[in-house]
Amino acid sequence: MTQRETKHVWWQEGIIYQIYPRSYQDSNGDGIGDLQGVINRLDYLQKLGITAVWLSPIYPSPMADFGYDISDYQGIHPLFGSLADFDQLVSEVHNRGMKLILDLVPNHTSDQHPWFLESRSSRDNPKRDWYLWEDGLPDGDVPNNWLSVFGGPAWEWDETTGQYYYHAFLKEQPDLNWRNPEVQEAMLNVMRFWLDKGVDGFRVDVMWHMIKDKSLRDNPSNPNYQPHMATYDQLLPVYSTDQPEVHDIVLQMRHVLDGYDERLLIGEIYLPIHQLVAYYGIDGKGAHLPFNFQLLLLPWDARQIATAIDQYEGVLPAGGWPNWVLGNHDQPRIGSRVGKEQARVAALLLLTLRGTPTIYYGEEIGMRDVPIPFDEVQDPQGLNMPDKNLSRDPARTPMQWSKDKHAGFTEGKPWLRLARDFSRENVARQQDDTYSMLSFYKRLIALRQQEPALMVGNYVPVYADTQILAYIRQLEGHPRFLILLNLSHRPGYFKAKDRSLLGVVEIATSPEWEGTEVNDTISLGGDDGILVRLN
Ligand code: GLC
Repeated sequence: MTQRETKHVWWQEGIIYQIYPRSYQDSNGDGIGDLQGVINRLDYLQKLGITAVWLSPIYPSPMADFGYDISDYQGIHPLFGSLADFDQLVSEVHNRGMKLILDLVPNHTSDQHPWFLESRSSRDNPKRDWYLWEDGLPDGDVPNNWLSVFGGPAWEWDETTGQYYYHAFLKEQPDLNWRNPEVQEAMLNVMRFWLDKGVDGFRVDVMWHMIKDKSLRDNPSNPNYQPHMATYDQLLPVYSTDQPEVHDIVLQMRHVLDGYDERLLIGEIYLPIHQLVAYYGIDGKGAHLPFNFQLLLLPWDARQIATAIDQYEGVLPAGGWPNWVLGNHDQPRIGSRVGKEQARVAALLLLTLRGTPTIYYGEEIGMRDVPIPFDEVQDPQGLNMPDKNLSRDPARTPMQWSKDKHAGFTEGKPWLRLARDFSRENVARQQDDTYSMLSFYKRLIALRQQEPALMVGNYVPVYADTQILAYIRQLEGHPRFLILLNLSHRPGYFKAKDRSLLGVVEIATSPEWEGTEVNDTISLGGDDGILVRLN
């Protein structure tokens, strides 16, 4: 088959947009975003041009970890609405030709989930083995040295039954025992429940955590640990995560999805790329998109990023479709990591790389991390390690819709404070400004979706030094594009070895470039990024 004849499915051609429901749009004045709020903003998303909406968890939850501690997998938290609201959301999303992806959190439940309440009620309860219960060491100490991602040991003592249970995250988030077939079946049924409701896929939370070493060996210490890092990083989690048997579980999940048409399985996985790509599964029967977080984690350096792109392209298994992520609800926003000007360069990068891009809400208007005063911190990761600046609240602040009260997010008191400058930085204002970040995103998205080379074409590396990253996107029979990105604030030169690189700048981080004819030598200003339609 030639490239042109290759068929692509919606999630290969499309763009994913992550919504953190608490912070997107409130419709009832309680200061917390909800499903009706999301419904009210679907026209905005449609005009933005994205393909699929991924919602962070909306299920009943005591909210110890803001919804990632689920107490009922088949309901909707009243804060967000009802199952009827959800059904309406599904059909309104579909009516606009878009897709809906849910967060699935199978690794752990809330400690208030009926399964756990049963499990902890007695040692011989039928659900005892649904979680990871262990005796203490002879001296009463925890079973091994494993640490919780959110600080402290990963084992919690249960007085009633005299054993410890394992929790990779908060003690309010006990880990399920995925070696137990009943647990597997219960969670696969949860998937079927939502798929039957028309959901187009799942983003599976902490996929690489789901199976742990059977003999609970101690994790080794991390020789590169630095005091500013989370306490969890003191050890290398080689026995508590990424165990070979996890791939059988992913295969089972995929099998459920394959019983439906074109549903998408995304895995949240923080691993080095060689381990990451194993999650595509044998014969591609694993996750469709193991999330690729390299752009979130690498230093903002052209050479390092170019190398990482090539390594990723090089290691992808046959048929494995790439993907790229610039931000999510757990990480500092790109605008705060690389600065306002570079955030435009980053957008150009994200939307011209080969593979499905994921946009985190607010990136399209250049939202930055909002400083949250000490006494307003809500994120458990921030609260548990207060001197490490690890709170995720700054990247979770309400969407800035307009200059109205509370940025048009709520009529009430927002659950988390808004950016100080929201009256200047908001959707309404940027919508009317051709040069705004929002207009830039919209044009980039439209071009990507309209040009086959950008949407599904090949990636051809051209050049990279410490400042500039250059590549071509091409697809037989279609216009080719050269992308030049200056990842530094200083001017720099690009000199093509290939004389045929002539063309016209179509989109640029600074609009003055647009329409300019360029040849084989191009001098870029600091923070310049240009996309050239090649002759
Ligand atoms: C994932 C989520 C994060 C959550 C954690 C525990 O990493 O993205 O927000 O705290 O899992 O569920």
